Formats: sequence, structure tokens, C-alpha cells
Amino acid sequence: MPTVLVLNGPNLNLLGTREPQVYGARTLADVETLCRGAAAAHGWTLDFRQSNHEGMLIDWIHEAGRAHADGLVAGVVLNAGAYTHTSVALHDAMKAVAAPVIEVHLSNVHAREPFRHHSYLSPAAAGIVVGFGADGYALAIDGLARRTQTETTTP
Ligand code: DQA
Repeated sequence: MPTVLVLNGPNLNLLGTREPQVYGARTLADVETLCRGAAAAHGWTLDFRQSNHEGMLIDWIHEAGRAHADGLVAGVVLNAGAYTHTSVALHDAMKAVAAPVIEVHLSNVHAREPFRHHSYLSPAAAGIVVGFGADGYALAIDGLARRTQTETTTP
């Protein structure tokens, strides 16, 4: 059964208590439960991870690339947190693998401070989901499934 890998970057371990007026009341464990349901609806298993370290996220994207090449991983859902706005290295990692990566943000970054308006990841992303709170993760998994289905059924 293929896996969807959901990667969370810095400070997302604090969801639930971190600026709830911006990021909502749901904890990262709640988001994981939501993702597990969305993945199961498509017959996928879920691999859900969080790290505060840029290099760890890069290693995980490389790992996803290898697993995707082996047919084990359908794709990646990535909320890179603030690294979105700073990391050329994450951009390069996404470009280096064939696994589709969907960029997710809980908040509508475009309605916030100007420094959040630019994403180094968007040009390398297969799709982007922004501003739907925790539900955005489920939307990203659904989008990944539709994309995968189209790829395999469209001549
Ligand atoms: C975020 C938006 C980023 O700007 C911020 O640094 C985060 C969370 C979001 O999910 O809305 O840590 O990625």
C-alpha cells in the first residue's frame, strides 16, 4: 500500500498553543489524525513527521524521492513553516526528486506580513494549499490522490 509522507517544519510542534488566533486550536496530533483519515480514504498509509531542523527536512525529501522511485511513496505534503521564506536548500531538494510535493500553509500567508509573501518552495511544488487551517492538509492529500489518479489514467 503506498504511503503519503507529511512533513512539518519548525515550530509546528507547538500547534494548539502557538498563536491560536493565526494557526487555530488543533494540535499537531490532531492534524496527524486528520491526515490519517484523508490518506486512508485513498487507500494510503500515512507517515507523519515534524522537525525544527532544515537539514532533517531535506534528508526526508531525499528519502521520499528514493521511496517514490521504488513505488512506495505517492508523494509528499510539506508545511516547511518559516523555511518556506528562507530556504533555497529546500527548493533544491524538491527539484532534485521526482516525488510530487504539495506545499501547505495553515494561514493565508499572502494576507500576513510581506516577508511571508515569497516562497522559495512554490516554484518547485506540484501544488499549493494556503489558508484553510488544518483542513488544508486533508485537501493536499486529496489533491495528491487526484493528481496521481490523473497521471495513471490519462493517456
Ligand atoms: C506557516 C506560515 C509560515 O509563514 C510560518 O512561518 C509558519 C507556519 C503556516 O502554516 O501558516 O511557521 O507555514
